[in-house]
Amino acid sequence: MTSGLRYIPSYFDRTAQEALVATLEKALLQAPFYTPVMPRSGRPFTVRMSNLGELGWVSDRAGYRYQAQHPETGAPWPQIPDMVMELWRKVSDYAHEPEACLVNYYREGAKMGLHRDEDEEDFSAPVVSLSLGDTAIFRIGGLERAGKTETLKLASGDVLVMGGASRLRYHGIDRVLAGTSTLLRSGGRINLTLRRVTRP
Ligand code: SIN
Ligand code: MN
Repeated sequence: MTSGLRYIPSYFDRTAQEALVATLEKALLQAPFYTPVMPRSGRPFTVRMSNLGELGWVSDRAGYRYQAQHPETGAPWPQIPDMVMELWRKVSDYAHEPEACLVNYYREGAKMGLHRDEDEEDFSAPVVSLSLGDTAIFRIGGLERAGKTETLKLASGDVLVMGGASRLRYHGIDRVLAGTSTLLRSGGRINLTLRRVTRP
């Protein structure tokens, strides 16, 4: 693996994953999943989204941005759970707190096209991502969209850190393998992506 990419399988065990899902379910009552749309075209994402933390990543016809309120309810995002803040402190190797935790929900057939996380001001902070529920086929390339790519299976409880030379690599989700986990009551996969947005 290229430098700055760190894959930590089974970071959270089943008991910890269940506790986290219970916390997330409460937060999601406050900030329900919604379906974002692509800039300009207005085409809906196949992934449903919500956010936790001071800032949430949103996409609509006007573009991609971070904002402090849920786009449909207008309410501030719920706080990032302690377990997840603790994860950031343990693996980020970055002195400041994350400001955003994107919550992606993949139901059967959902995927995420190849993209870079580049809406943040400080690329010295890594992107820390946690998978819950069904296993996903994660695709990662290089710094150019057209470059060579490889795949990695992300299972429930796995953590992936994209920092350093890997911070701006293209990545996406090819597909989710339905029925590979019993963690989420309604099946599918939740991905939490932690990011520092502003320069400290
Ligand atoms: C993302 O890049 O926003 C999501 C990646 C994932 O679902 O693992
Ligand atoms: Mn991403």
